[in-house]
Amino acid sequence: MSPAAAWCAQHRLRFLLPSLFLAPVLFFLLSPPSPPPFVSLPAPGRELPPSGSRLIWAQRRLVEWRPCGWWRTAPVQAPSRRNGYIRIDCYGGLNQLRRDLCDGIGVARLLNATMILPKFEVAAYWNESSGFADVFDVDYFIEQTRGYVEVMKDLPVEIASKEPFKVDCSKRKGHFDYVESVLPALLEHQYISLTPAMNQRRDRNPSYAKASYCQGCYSALRLNKKVHSKAVELLQAIPKPFLSLHLRFEPDMVAYSRCAYTGLSSKSMDSIEAARGEGRKVLTGDAARLWRNRGKCPLTPSETAFILQALDIPTNTNIYLAAGDGLMELEGFTSVYKNIYTKSSLLAHEDFENMHGNTKAALDYYVSVNSDAYIATFFGNMDKMVTAMRTMQGLQKTLVLSRRDFANYTAAGLAGEQLAKAMWDVHREEYIRGRGSALPEYCFCEFKL
Ligand SMILES: *[C@@H]1O[C@H](CO)[C@@H](O)[C@H](O)[C@H]1NC(C)=O
Ligand SMILES: *[C@@H]1O[C@H](CO)[C@@H](O)[C@H](O)[C@H]1NC(C)=O
Ligand SMILES: *[C@@H]1O[C@H](CO)[C@@H](O)[C@H](O)[C@H]1NC(C)=O
Repeated sequence: MSPAAAWCAQHRLRFLLPSLFLAPVLFFLLSPPSPPPFVSLPAPGRELPPSGSRLIWAQRRLVEWRPCGWWRTAPVQAPSRRNGYIRIDCYGGLNQLRRDLCDGIGVARLLNATMILPKFEVAAYWNESSGFADVFDVDYFIEQTRGYVEVMKDLPVEIASKEPFKVDCSKRKGHFDYVESVLPALLEHQYISLTPAMNQRRDRNPSYAKASYCQGCYSALRLNKKVHSKAVELLQAIPKPFLSLHLRFEPDMVAYSRCAYTGLSSKSMDSIEAARGEGRKVLTGDAARLWRNRGKCPLTPSETAFILQALDIPTNTNIYLAAGDGLMELEGFTSVYKNIYTKSSLLAHEDFENMHGNTKAALDYYVSVNSDAYIATFFGNMDKMVTAMRTMQGLQKTLVLSRRDFANYTAAGLAGEQLAKAMWDVHREEYIRGRGSALPEYCFCEFKL
């Protein structure tokens, strides 16, 4: 039995046993005259569904996402001609780098260009110099993209001494056509570096470009040997089964959200103030309320603990915190869920000290992709990659918490048991309908169960 299945079985028992023992007692107590027994139970609305468990993962799903079949075999159409060489330049943290790289793979094939290994330009914030090869397995990438897009490890002599012509699409807004706007520069210079656009619609691309994107992003990227073995070591150190939780409540995150919070410690408030730059002023009044109700405010650790309890995730669950070191108000979570594991608690001290931000992010990524269950409190770049990669592996215990619904119900005055019930209903619905657990993009298809 897999750890996940064992976990499930164990929980089914945990819920079945008490109800089996209680059933005759309840029946005796409630039988005369004859209201349906569950109406008189305490905790209105928290009745057991037929499966016998209120644990979120025990709910029967109606739909799940799987990788679509059409892109799993290389497109037969080879490029009609080669238009030049493209290096994809990626900026930011690991998951943002990866998102840009994924887009770039699709664009390279769209333009019938040969890809040079991407350049990872790490933001100063991360203080490091990890290149593509420092994180990912280069040979595997080349092998897995064969037939989709041509990738070269070393520059051919004729361009080896040249600097590529820079094409920066990162600030481009709205839909634009890469063939129209980038191909001319590629043809003219023969070697360009490209920073892909942030929010480009990829669904209009021809299928060979889409297939390259899907294959390159979801089947060709794996951690290199060194990072992988560190990640495996970490994974093995975590007691099983476990849930990986991506908490986001760092000062910069909160400052950036422009949301107001009450009840935070003065230490947290100071850190948030320190992270607040120009243009990040706290919203007030109606604007603040609307913003919060649109789900723009990060969940606090204690709100997260509340929702996890509403989903009946036992408080003795082993939880790996996939997060940086800067989380605030963590006691709000750890006072409820006590079996918490982190990188810094599990890895040897000097190992951890010597690690770059991207390597740390790669560990969180790996552990989260391989955990029994994954819950995200936000839907950022990491969550998009993790949920998609879990979907690739058929790991379905994946959930993104709804900040919008939490805010909305809280604003409507719900609290305590009522709020818990509302959170349960909303997330159960999301879970069984397979929403929010995979990228709703063309690489994945809905599958009715
Ligand atoms: C790329 O090659 C395909 C054939 O695979 C062809 O249909 C398309 O027009 C080419 N695009 C460019 C920009 O050269
Ligand atoms: C960046 O990393 C180097 C070592 O890799 C270290 O000496 C330096 O203090 C770090 N800078 C910051 C701002 O963290
Ligand atoms: C907020 O909740 C109300 C019910 O309390 C519902 O009618 C409305 O659609 C919700 N809005 C959003 C954005 O979820």
